[in-house]
Amino acid sequence: MAADSQPASGWSGQATGPRDPDLAASAEIQPCTRAGRCFDAAVVDLSHDSFPRSSGYDADWLLERDMGPNPLWLLEELLEQQTVEPGSRILDLGCGRGATSVFLANELDAEVWAVDLRTDVVSLEATLAGAGVGESAHVVGADARHLPFADDVFDAIVSIDAWEYFGTDDHFLPGLLRVLRPGGSIGMATPAMLREVRDLGHIPEHIRSVVGWEALAWHTPEWWGQQWQLTGLVDGVSAAPARTGWSDWLRWAQAAATGRDDDPSVEMLRADRGDLLTFALVSATKR
Ligand SMILES: C[S@@+](CC[C@H](N)C(=O)[O-])C[C@H]1O[C@@H](n2cnc3c(N)ncnc32)[C@H](O)[C@@H]1O
Repeated sequence: MAADSQPASGWSGQATGPRDPDLAASAEIQPCTRAGRCFDAAVVDLSHDSFPRSSGYDADWLLERDMGPNPLWLLEELLEQQTVEPGSRILDLGCGRGATSVFLANELDAEVWAVDLRTDVVSLEATLAGAGVGESAHVVGADARHLPFADDVFDAIVSIDAWEYFGTDDHFLPGLLRVLRPGGSIGMATPAMLREVRDLGHIPEHIRSVVGWEALAWHTPEWWGQQWQLTGLVDGVSAAPARTGWSDWLRWAQAAATGRDDDPSVEMLRADRGDLLTFALVSATKR
C-alpha cells in the first residue's frame, strides 16, 4: 500500500479480522481421549487441515522442542502473507529449540541462521543435524538487539513467538532492519490481544494471574501494524490475527500439558473463550 494513500495515522490495514471460527469446537477439546487416556506426546495428533506442510512433522519431535504454542502452524500461516523466495538467506530470530529453522531450511530450501539468546547451542545444533539440515542451518547465540551480522545480509527475517521479548521498543525494528537487504521481507508471529490492555485500563484477571505484566507486550494486530507503518522504513505492512489463533493455542497447550488438567495456560485460554487472546501475524518489506 502506497504511503501517500494512508490516513493521518499512517495505518489503514484491516487487522481485527473475523473471530476465530473454531471457537465453539475448540471449547469442547478435552485433555484426555474418549478412551480416557490423558494426552501423552506419544498419542497426540498435531496434524492440522489448514497447515499441510506442518502436519508432516512428527508430534513427538515438536513437543520435545516445545517452548510455546504451535510454532510451525504460525510460521506456515505467516508465509502465506510474507514473501520468502526459495533459496533465501533467512534469519530465524528467537529460534528456541529449532523447529522453525528446520522447517525453513526444509520447506524453502533456504540457508538459515538460527539465532537465540538463551537456547542450548549444542542441542540446537544436534536438532538441525538430526533433521538433515546441519549444512544449511547455522546456529548463532546472540541478542536480537545486538546482532553480529553485516548490513543487508539477509533476504528475509522470520520470528515466531519471540518478538514480545525484545520487539516492543520503538528502536527495535529500525535497528533490526540494518541486517535485511532493501526489498527483503520481515515477518513475525507474537501473542496478541484483540483489545489493547491500555484501552481496557487493566490486564484481565484470567490473563494477569498466569502471565502477569508480560501481557503488556501482547498488543493488538492493529497496534503492531501501525507501529511498523509509522517507522516509514517498510512497505506493504500486513497485520492480522491468526485465523484460528485462540483455538490453535488452546489445542497446542493441551497437547503440551500431557495430561495435567490444571495447566495454567490451558486454564487461561479456556477462561478467555477467544474473546481476547490470539496471535498477531505481522509482515512487511524493507524499503
Ligand atoms: C517462547 S520461545 C519461542 C521459541 C521458538 N521461536 C518457538 O516458537 O518454539 C522465545 C525465545 O526467544 C528467545 N529470546 C528472548 N529474548 C531474546 C533476545 N533478546 N534475543 C534473542 N532471543 C531471545 C528465548 O531465548 C526463547 O528461545
